[in-house]
Amino acid sequence: MARFPLAIAPSPCATMIHLRPAAAQEIQRLLQAFPRHAGLRIQLQPSDCAEWIYDLSPAQQASPDDVTFQVGDLQIVLAQAILPLIDNLTIDYAEDLMGGGFRFVNPQASHACGCGNAFSTTPNAGGEDCRTMADSPR
Ligand code: FES
Repeated sequence: MARFPLAIAPSPCATMIHLRPAAAQEIQRLLQAFPRHAGLRIQLQPSDCAEWIYDLSPAQQASPDDVTFQVGDLQIVLAQAILPLIDNLTIDYAEDLMGGGFRFVNPQASHACGCGNAFSTTPNAGGEDCRTMADSPR
């Protein structure tokens, strides 16, 4: 499947974010519900399943600590601090019998959780799979 880069970050590390067509289409569809958005913000939140979990949300406004990527009429906003953790991240979107969801392929990750939404860059930093924690005896 063809990949196309969103943009090349104006940073020394030349970070790239790749967005598959299905992901771009779904992001545009979701952002229509937020007419005052300034684009898509990609964030990383701490995760119990690994070190970080991807968090996509409508961007309100870029801050001085952010890097922005303009692609067509879509602006991608990232905190500059997370650039090394997601360099060359590919975001895809797929639907199956369980529903639809974004898929993340991060070459910086040394470990991804079972569902693929969380990752670690530190070896042996994997956590407990949240999909099984609810079934596990405590
Ligand atoms: S976020 Fe818990 S298994 Fe993926």
